[in-house]
Amino acid sequence: TRLWLVVPAAGQGRRMGADRPKQYLPLAGRPVLACTLERLHAALPAARLCLCLDPEDPYFDPAWVPFADWRRAPGGAERVDSVIAALAAIAPDAADDDLVLVHDVARPCVTVDDLSRLVTALADDPVGGLLAAPVADTMKRDDGAGRVATTESREGLWHALTPQGFRFGLLRRALHEALARDVHVTDEASAVEAVGRSPRLVAGRRDNLKITHPEDLALAELVLSAQQQ
Ligand code: C5P
Repeated sequence: TRLWLVVPAAGQGRRMGADRPKQYLPLAGRPVLACTLERLHAALPAARLCLCLDPEDPYFDPAWVPFADWRRAPGGAERVDSVIAALAAIAPDAADDDLVLVHDVARPCVTVDDLSRLVTALADDPVGGLLAAPVADTMKRDDGAGRVATTESREGLWHALTPQGFRFGLLRRALHEALARDVHVTDEASAVEAVGRSPRLVAGRRDNLKITHPEDLALAELVLSAQQQ
């Protein structure tokens, strides 16, 4: 079986409030997208990459892609649409039991070690799974008016990170069913759960953060420099 990497990079990243999508903002001197692809390549150099890009993206430079075997797919309106477009782009060459790892371009701090452990953990798994980190904070649910309604137990709660890896056939079916049934999915695992399967949780580092808000860029720079020591 082959290993595929799908990297959705077609978001606009509006919550950053920057002049360009967050994947093109500089992180330690290079665009976020280049940093993320470099980490993925360091861990999985033989993987085949499909990058989801906005068809009208004026910022992308193919020189940032370190993979020998890569292709692009047109990004869609939502992340799930971009991932579905990527699966369509690899379909002619992918077998149902090939493993597909989906990784947010906005997570440049994923480590080589976490990537290797995830691939090893999923090698013989018929369903697939995801990197995840146990919730550390006490969790509150609000009452809709700015006050605490309840305290939720954090016992057994995890943050869903990426990559998330599933067999090509299962992932494609799950995502198409989610769209057809109008189930709102914000990650691959929730689509797989919606078709009745249980993704494996692979404990990953908590510093695999997703650059979302302006302060996250500085945090990611700190994480990268600490990881290199
Ligand atoms: O905006 P958010 O951080 O949730 O996006 C997660 C990932 O999905 C990012 O890598 C972003 O570029 C990607 N995305 C996409 N197509 C969209 C929306 C988001 O590829 N329409």
